[in-house]
Amino acid sequence: MQCHKNNLISHHKKLCLITFLLSLLSTFPFSQTFNYGDSLSLSLLYFEAQRSGHLPYNQRLKWRHHSGLIDGLEQGVDLVGGYYDAGDNVKFGLPMAFTITVLSWSVMEYQDQIAAAEELQHALEAIKWGTDYFIKAHTHPHVLWAQVGDGETDHLCWQRPEDMTTSRQAYKLDKDNPGSDVAGETAAAMAAASLVFKKKNPHYSTLLLEHAQQLFEFADKYRGRYDDSIEVAKGYYTSISGYKDELLWAALWLHKATENRSYLNYAVKNGESFGGTTWAVTEFSWDIKYAGLQLIAAMLPMEEKTEEEKKILQQYRSKAEHYICACLNKNNGANVKRTPGGLLYTRRWNNMQYVSSALLLLGVYSDHLRSTNRALSCDIGLVVSEEILEFIKSQVDYILGDNPMRMSYLVGYGPLYPTRVHHRGASMPSYKDYKEFLGCMQGYHTWFVRHAPNLHVLAGALVGGPDEKDEFRDSRRNFAQTEACTYNTAPLVGVFAKLHSLEKNNSF
Ligand SMILES: *[C@@H]1O[C@H](CO)[C@@H](O)[C@H](O)[C@H]1NC(C)=O
Repeated sequence: MQCHKNNLISHHKKLCLITFLLSLLSTFPFSQTFNYGDSLSLSLLYFEAQRSGHLPYNQRLKWRHHSGLIDGLEQGVDLVGGYYDAGDNVKFGLPMAFTITVLSWSVMEYQDQIAAAEELQHALEAIKWGTDYFIKAHTHPHVLWAQVGDGETDHLCWQRPEDMTTSRQAYKLDKDNPGSDVAGETAAAMAAASLVFKKKNPHYSTLLLEHAQQLFEFADKYRGRYDDSIEVAKGYYTSISGYKDELLWAALWLHKATENRSYLNYAVKNGESFGGTTWAVTEFSWDIKYAGLQLIAAMLPMEEKTEEEKKILQQYRSKAEHYICACLNKNNGANVKRTPGGLLYTRRWNNMQYVSSALLLLGVYSDHLRSTNRALSCDIGLVVSEEILEFIKSQVDYILGDNPMRMSYLVGYGPLYPTRVHHRGASMPSYKDYKEFLGCMQGYHTWFVRHAPNLHVLAGALVGGPDEKDEFRDSRRNFAQTEACTYNTAPLVGVFAKLHSLEKNNSF
């Protein structure tokens, strides 16, 4: 600003002062602080919006109602419950299981911080809504029901889940129709959840562990990609990375949950042939688990390990650290891109899922570095845990509004957030207020195309987010940016809890 120079006329000074104040105001949001406790509470509320089945008496989110009450009936199996993945009404097994694995991981790592924020009960309920469903869906040691409904017919309608008239056909995996990716991911989810419930509900924890062990055996013994068995999943949740990552991921979670050495042996023995020690990846998602499993292997204690095991675990660690360094922009070459505003950028379609999953991995690894008193050695220098924490905070603050659009991509947080989230239920009248049936196409004609905001705030949903130029268009049609998914929010539960606790202790 040039205002202080040669301003002899007093009204000019006033103008300068106003300009100065305005410029302060416009820069102010960049130094604003965020309430991570509020964002944590919202993130857990979101899972109630995605519930399928018979809603319980203590359901807090009031604009949803019972739905999918005959799921599985045609096939003679009770598949009522579980979660819708996103803005539609299909229950897809792969993303649902991944959501529960990551949510459980969040809670396992940050249980005390979540409890201090008085949100632990909600977090446990969110996990249990998923694991109760998996117990139902796993009807025989070698049978797992992995999908209800299909994207093709579901996407022809814009309907509340409470009114669904679309196909509710259920699809199963068995030894003739294997699906090692979904069976492996469900095993991982149940093993991770068993750790969360170990003290709170030991009986339930043991039950989950039994299912997890059986599912892993099924996944390993009858190998195949689930979308070859359940072809309707193709094009929606195609298992592009195959199932070898899920097998290693499940084995490592089972090792954590049981401390049974045979699962560790599995990850050691198959580390190379399954890509665990060889794949250097820069994204972690419902499809590609390598970074997550490499991180878990990297954090295993080295004591009481054979030389061979140490060598393999070291290889896992080097790949895990490649991922972490890529997120921090510290590799020579393979790094995750960033938008001009500084957000991690992987791809146009639902980019936020890669951001939020990266933040959980970064958070967990920064804790590990701190507790083992190590620094991370990237191609471009050493990184200490505080630096990783600063980066996590910058990304979370971007999500919550510290970005060029000044918009919170966590719905319901702050003064400005997406109001036309691509979500059937949220866009239309609540079943509680409007009990008359809303038809398949009626929804499109009346509610989808409408310019006005959704009728309900899908609180706690993390939308797909801005493009590579930090730009965002709030429109229901723009589903690459405005759709939210359960696996977007799940990792944030842990991240918000961690930041909330640091903020309370004045650690920033
Ligand atoms: C460890 O797991 C393997 C494979 O599931 C099983 O055969 C073995 O009995 C387990 N060992 C113990 C001590 O539980």
